[in-house]
Amino acid sequence: MTLPRLASYPHRHLLGIEGLAPDAIEFLLDLADEYVDLNRQVDKKRGTLKGRTQINLFFETSTRTSTSFELAGKRLGADVINMSVARSAVQKGETLLDTAMTLNAMHPDVLVIRHQDSGAAQLLAQKVSGSVINAGDGTHEHPTQALLDALTIRRRRGKLQGQIVAICGDILHSRVARSNIHLLNAMGAYVRVVGPPTLLPTAIERLGVEVHTDMEKALDGADIVMMLRLQLERMQGAYVPSFREYFHFYGLDHRKLAHAKPDALIMHPGPMNRGVEIDSLVADDINRSVIREQVEMGVAVRMACLDALTRHLPDTGAEPAP
Ligand code: NCD
Repeated sequence: MTLPRLASYPHRHLLGIEGLAPDAIEFLLDLADEYVDLNRQVDKKRGTLKGRTQINLFFETSTRTSTSFELAGKRLGADVINMSVARSAVQKGETLLDTAMTLNAMHPDVLVIRHQDSGAAQLLAQKVSGSVINAGDGTHEHPTQALLDALTIRRRRGKLQGQIVAICGDILHSRVARSNIHLLNAMGAYVRVVGPPTLLPTAIERLGVEVHTDMEKALDGADIVMMLRLQLERMQGAYVPSFREYFHFYGLDHRKLAHAKPDALIMHPGPMNRGVEIDSLVADDINRSVIREQVEMGVAVRMACLDALTRHLPDTGAEPAP
């Protein structure tokens, strides 16, 4: 049975994938598909967000995510401000909520936040009148990354349903893994996770994934191999004996990849640690790696999210209903 397509995305914020209905995810992916086409034209501008203000609040470093949110807002005609935390009053000890209230007084329509603490986006959403997009909160969620990964897979494979996806490496510290698990499960894909026992969260199987510690078994017959970075900045102490040993057991090279389907796609959210979780020969394999395509999809997905969420904001500048 195919359900009728949603006429709009039903939420004002995008804080995580957990709890999103499949048709809401599908709505964002369909809209993003249209933006992929727009982004491949010479004139990439639309007036969808004309008059709107978007503030990007990045408390953690970022290349891909912050650039693509900025581009996405600008292509849709918004005024985009990038608040650099290094030069803000946060350095003087201002709390997240005080910063939020200060910015809110300037009537932003969208706040995009990346923060080192899980739950930061949710907290912000309770305090501001515009839309909040979570661009990664601690080890919790990174919803736009999961959406761009899904768009990449869907465009290559035509569907997400039934795809066997192996998510490999530092699952414990990865918000990318968590958001992908929720999304892929919601869309009917099969998810396997693999990593050393020290980097697998306890009771991860409760999220509906197959858990492995042996890379070759996890990759056996996989359609998609999604590699994750070893997130050293989130580790206190040593979780792996050495990078060399880690690469030997869990680094993706052509030998391990041979266990996956012959046409399996290789993904990585970036930034990559070449020679640690992925061999350069695999990362740059033009027949198998879709890592650069993921970056392209990132802009389109963020345009779709900005477009869909701001449809919930009143045109009058009045306070929207929560
Ligand atoms: C990811 C992140 O920040 O969570 N990167 C990204 O958004 N492209 C993954 C990572 O940092 O390893």
